[in-house]
Amino acid sequence: MTKEEALLQIQQLSKEIEDHNFRYYQQSFPVISDYDFDQLLNKLIALEKEWPDLVQPDSPTMRVGGTITKEFKTVTHKYPMMSLGNTYSEEELNDFDERIRKILPGEKIEYACELKFDGVAIGITYKNGQLVQAVTRGDGVQGDDVTTNVKTIRTIPLKLNIPSSADLFDSSTSFPDEFEVRGEIIMPRAVFERINEERIDIGEAPFANPRNCASGTLKMQDSSEVSKRRLDCFLYGYYGTPLFVNHFEAMNGISAFGFQVSEHRKLCGSINEVMEYVHFWDSKRDELPFDIDGIVIKVNAYRQQEELGFTAKSPRWAISYKYKAASVATKLEEVTYQVGRTGAITPVANLTPVLLAGTTVKRASLHNADQIAKLDLHVHDTVFVEKGGEIIPKITGVDLSKREEGSTPIVYITHCPECNTPLQRKEGEAQHYCPNEEGCKPQIKGKIEHFTGRKAMNLEGLGAETIDLFVEKGLIHNISDIYSINKDNILQLDRFGEKSAQNIMDGIEKSKEVPFEKVLFAIGIRYVGDTVARKLARHFKSIEALKNATLEQLTDTPEVGDVIAGSVIDFFSKPSNQALIERLKSAGLQFELKADALPISLGNQLEGKIVVVTGTFERHSRDELKQLIEQHGGKNGSSVSKKTTYLLAGSDSGPSKTDKARDLGVQVISESDFEAIISG
Ligand code: IVH
Repeated sequence: MTKEEALLQIQQLSKEIEDHNFRYYQQSFPVISDYDFDQLLNKLIALEKEWPDLVQPDSPTMRVGGTITKEFKTVTHKYPMMSLGNTYSEEELNDFDERIRKILPGEKIEYACELKFDGVAIGITYKNGQLVQAVTRGDGVQGDDVTTNVKTIRTIPLKLNIPSSADLFDSSTSFPDEFEVRGEIIMPRAVFERINEERIDIGEAPFANPRNCASGTLKMQDSSEVSKRRLDCFLYGYYGTPLFVNHFEAMNGISAFGFQVSEHRKLCGSINEVMEYVHFWDSKRDELPFDIDGIVIKVNAYRQQEELGFTAKSPRWAISYKYKAASVATKLEEVTYQVGRTGAITPVANLTPVLLAGTTVKRASLHNADQIAKLDLHVHDTVFVEKGGEIIPKITGVDLSKREEGSTPIVYITHCPECNTPLQRKEGEAQHYCPNEEGCKPQIKGKIEHFTGRKAMNLEGLGAETIDLFVEKGLIHNISDIYSINKDNILQLDRFGEKSAQNIMDGIEKSKEVPFEKVLFAIGIRYVGDTVARKLARHFKSIEALKNATLEQLTDTPEVGDVIAGSVIDFFSKPSNQALIERLKSAGLQFELKADALPISLGNQLEGKIVVVTGTFERHSRDELKQLIEQHGGKNGSSVSKKTTYLLAGSDSGPSKTDKARDLGVQVISESDFEAIISG
């Protein structure tokens, strides 16, 4: 294929894929199967790999990410990003309407009403139809450049449609050379819930609400992780050469360019009509797949907007009506405490059941001891329960007028409710922990359940119930005991027959093939979720290298900060964990990255060179080094001879090889020298 042919193919494929993206994500009307779509995308990925200089900035492969940003660039907004005045009542809304009518006496006022999406504001600039920059609100004057992450959002066009003139309300036929659109990046509730379940599983604090989750995701360093999180975006503003006469038409216009604009917009001729819209969405907002926290009301005509102008902080032509979080009062019956897999204690408020926003609430999370102290909770208090963006409702306050006389404050437990071990609380942490990792039943069971889970070792036969039974009967005490189980042990328990016992044994055997990255996730290091485990596995390639890594080496890994790095070091410093890894190793689990998990050719820095590897190394196993030599075009030699280019010598390499190398004038290099050579 010539370069011209490749370019043509890349362009055609890109267009075809983006058309399918638009149909799938914005029109909800796909015309090809997911499989066929993936085939097209893979074809494009392969072509771009072969012709890297032909990769277009608006390529649909940007949707899958892959760029790492260590620090986001600060960018000054071309148009400052202002905020909106808030109202909470019909009265305040009437005041807003009156203020406007005073400034524009006798004029007909139309209001464009929109949902107030509860997410993160974004400004996206397009030049010649291509997305060039996406910047967060920041302080309103300057924000962060999060372009690579924003490009992964499927509903944001990388390249714009030239709309047919029939799609536009005025005479314009296309978008200007340069303009900005503004909107809100949101995290759909379903995605938010999935992400939080994963975070709780690895002992990380869950995101408080979808907005925080969207904001955290947008600041992730690895755009391929952002891509997996499925953010979404609704646009609600156009900034550029005047093409439209009013906001509503502008939104129709940008929708024709290919942007996602909410279908729930409404033009209202009076403030009463606005009020109806506000009430309608207050009762229906639970049915939306994402959170809104109110309604935004904008004077529709741009000429009127100009006349109304701005105050120091916000436009006079727009206001938001904020919904109050649904709240209800009920009685606190008791506080119980749950022990998680990592030993974290979570206090739970058990409530007299009460109906709140369509669901019966019986329990509310109290988060930690500080939270209980802050609320000054007493036994049998009447409490206010609120359901905001959170999945689990929270207690926001106490009705002191209903407090029983002489009631006593809730005193936080000092000992584990399951094993009675004194609880610990690390400095700077909010949570109490039960340190009895090996003897506390919920921790033992939780760790084993995590280990056998689908995303970890995927031991189907070992679900929660079976684990419960095995632990109770003393068959297993920790994850490594799984590999000492034999069929007779299982058959002795009444519940299992020949076939089910064999299934479990087969599953255990099969799990020995599970790749290193999943094993690393499965062993349950605090804060190491499946993503971080994958990153660590790829970076360090073996458990040995990971075990010996310094804090600095750990934080060099994408997505790994001080907290995760500290937790990894802490894990490997415990003799019990070291023993556990050794037992799992002898059971035959994968503790090194397999050859096929590495890309095949990585460069030609060692072309024509012969390298002999001897001794042990800090960051790589010998096998990995041998593989790297081949992946960089070199050959492995077994003994030092005149033909040898380098002797790659580790810490305890014997004198025989190094002496011989020196005699023959062969260069002796260290692991770091080697890394420098292969990285060119
Ligand atoms: S218009 C001059 N429309 O609410 C401000 N904002 O409190 C123009 N928001 O920062 C903003 N949905 O992040 C507008 N339909 C909508 C919105 C919306 C959510 C957010 C936005 C803004 C904040 C203002």
